[in-house]
Amino acid sequence: MGVTGGIAAYKSLDVLRILQRHGHGVSVVMTHTAERFVGSASFAALSGREVGTHLFGDAGQPGYHHLDVNDGMDLMLVAPASANTISQMAMGASSSLLTSCYLAFRGPVVVAPAMNTGMWLHPATARNIAALRADGVHMVDPETGLLADGAVGPGRLAEPSAIVAAVEAVLGGTSPANDLAGVRVLISAGGTREPIDAVRYVGNRSSGRMGWALAAAARDRGAEVVVVQANVDLPRQVGIRYTDAPTAAAMRDACRSEFPACDVLIMCAAVADFRPVSATDGKIDKAASDTLTVAMERTSDILAELAALRDEQVLIGFAAEHGPPGLDRARAKRTRKAVDIVVHNDAAVDGAAFEGPDNVVTIIGPGDSETSLPRMPKRACAERIFDAALPLVHARAVSA
Ligand SMILES: Cc1cc2nc3c(=O)[nH]c(=O)nc-3n(C[C@H](O)[C@H](O)[C@H](O)COP(=O)(O)O)c2cc1C
Repeated sequence: MGVTGGIAAYKSLDVLRILQRHGHGVSVVMTHTAERFVGSASFAALSGREVGTHLFGDAGQPGYHHLDVNDGMDLMLVAPASANTISQMAMGASSSLLTSCYLAFRGPVVVAPAMNTGMWLHPATARNIAALRADGVHMVDPETGLLADGAVGPGRLAEPSAIVAAVEAVLGGTSPANDLAGVRVLISAGGTREPIDAVRYVGNRSSGRMGWALAAAARDRGAEVVVVQANVDLPRQVGIRYTDAPTAAAMRDACRSEFPACDVLIMCAAVADFRPVSATDGKIDKAASDTLTVAMERTSDILAELAALRDEQVLIGFAAEHGPPGLDRARAKRTRKAVDIVVHNDAAVDGAAFEGPDNVVTIIGPGDSETSLPRMPKRACAERIFDAALPLVHARAVSA
C-alpha cells in the first residue's frame, strides 16, 4: 500500500486495518510528503512490517529496495493518491520509492485519489487519470462532499471500506472488466427546459444522476463516452466529454450530430414532449391578466428519429412512467421506436423517484428478455444495463 502526501493520509490507517481484518498482509510505502502528515511508526506498528520510505538504504548496503518491496505482492494500492504522485505514475517517472515500486510492479494496481476539487477537476489531472486508466489501473473515484479545505465538491477520498471492496474485487477477478474497450457510447442526461419567456421555462425534475452513473460505468469499462447534457447541476467527471443542450431542440441537434460516430446510444435525458409554440420576448407581465394560457406544441421524438438513421448502433431508451400501466407503455415504446432495450422506471414506486441516488428499473430487451431489478444505487443499475446490452454491443458495434 502506497501512501502519499495529503490530509487523507490518516484514513489509510483505517484502510490498512480493514485489509488486515480481512486477512491480507500489507506492506506500506510512504512518500516523504506523506510522512509529514502521518508518522511511519503508525503504519509500522499496525502492519507489523518495516515501512518503506527511501529509495536507497544506508550507505554501502546492497540491494534494490523497490524490487525487494514488490517481492511476493499480489496487488499494489495507492491510497490516498496525490495529484503529484498520480502525475508521476502517468508519466512513468520514478523519483520516489513509491513510484519506482509502481513502475517495477507487474501485478494489478488500484489507485484511490484524494485532493482539493480544483486539483481534481484540472485538465492535467483528468489527463493523468485517463492515462492511468488506459494503462489498466483500477480507479476508486473520489467522493463528492465536504473537503478539508472547507469546500464542497468532488475530491474526498472514497470510504476506506469502498477502497477495500475495490481491492478485493480486483484480487477476486470480479472487478468490472474492460469489456467496453473501443466502444463509443453517447448518453443524453438531465432534463430540458423550454422557455415561456426570457426568465421562465417548462421543465421537469430529472437531475441527471442516472445519466452520470451510466457515463461513469461506461468509462470505467473502457468506453469512450460523450454526454449530451441538459441542465445537470452535478460535477463533471474526468475522462468524459460533455456537450450542453438545454432545450429539446438543442438536444435533438446535439444528438443528431454525435450519433453517427457512436456505437451505443442511451437516451436517458427527460426531454420535453411539449414546448411553448413561441417564447415571449422579455418577461410576461403578471399584472396584465389573472390567467396565462401558453400554447404548446409537440417536440421531435429524438430516439425515433435516430432509430430511423441507425447504422448498426445499439439503441437504449428510458421510459419514466407513473403507475402500473407504464410497463405496458414502455414495452410498446420499444416496439414502436424499434430500439433494442427500454429501461422502464416507475416514478410512483418508492425509491425510483427522480433526483434520488437509487432507482428501481425493469430492463426490457434485448429480444424477449425482461428483467425487473430491486431498488439499487443508480451506478449499480447502470452496470446491469451494460451487462444486458453487452452481447448486442459485441455482436454488432464492435464487429461493424
Ligand atoms: C496541508 C496540505 C494538504 C494537502 N493535501 C493534498 C491532497 O489532499 N491531495 C493532493 O494531491 N495534494 C495535497 N497537498 C499537496 C501535496 O502534499 C504536494 O503536492 C506534494 O508534493 C505531494 O507529494 P507526494 O505525491 O510525493 O506525496 C497538500 C499539501 C498541504 C500542505
